[in-house]
Amino acid sequence: PRVFALVPAAGMGKRMGADINKQYLLLDGMPIIARTLQVFQESDLIDGIILVTPLQEIPFCRREIVERFDLTKVLAIVPGGAERQHSVFNGLRELMHHAADDDIVMIHDGVRPFIDNRILHQLRETACCHGAALVAVPVKDTIKTVHDGMVIGTPERSTLWQAQTPQAFRFGLILQSHSAADQDHFLGTDDCSLVERAGGTIGIVTGSYRNIKITTPEDIQLAENFLSQSRL
Ligand code: CTP
Ligand code: MG
Repeated sequence: PRVFALVPAAGMGKRMGADINKQYLLLDGMPIIARTLQVFQESDLIDGIILVTPLQEIPFCRREIVERFDLTKVLAIVPGGAERQHSVFNGLRELMHHAADDDIVMIHDGVRPFIDNRILHQLRETACCHGAALVAVPVKDTIKTVHDGMVIGTPERSTLWQAQTPQAFRFGLILQSHSAADQDHFLGTDDCSLVERAGGTIGIVTGSYRNIKITTPEDIQLAENFLSQSRL
């Protein structure tokens, strides 16, 4: 099968509180979104990339990100929606023009630049085997269930994993799961949850604690540390 990347980058970056969308902040001189896309551009595995951005930022992204960094695998830039799930669904509808049901699509947050090609390879194997696969790491902290400011439970830590992206799927499976969720007005917090809802099986690939989602200002400092370490 061929392998496509679908990169949702149509959020507003509110929690970052910067005066520009967080994905355009520079890490060592290069915008975060360009760094993320470059990993897929340089991967031997990836045949094409669909990028999802806010409608009004499409011309800027085409010129200042895709053309400027020579991201030749980008097949299309399409507008996002109100929630991440809507943005991904728009990207999947565009991918209908490029992918077959048995091809693999890796859905990856535009603001997670620290993925590597080894993980992408493992993810493809697992997704081919099970239909769906996600990158995750075991939680480090004990997690509590809380209601109205009071603790109501402690799920067994050894069963808890933090879901990251990429999350990879057979194209037919994820398109159908997204369509069903859209029809039922079901809003999930990740793409795998839509497949779980439809009864699909999902394999796990152990990720890296460095694969952070750049969300708040502390994450920029972390990211800069990771980069300066990897330059040593
Ligand atoms: N995203 C998207 N469409 C949306 C919301 C989010 O494509 N309507 C994308 C973001 O651009 C990001 C990824 O989904 O690459 C993960 O979302 P998040 O970290 O929450 O980013 P933002 O929504 O931009 O940030 P915030 O929630 O702080 O506003
Ligand atoms: Mg958000």
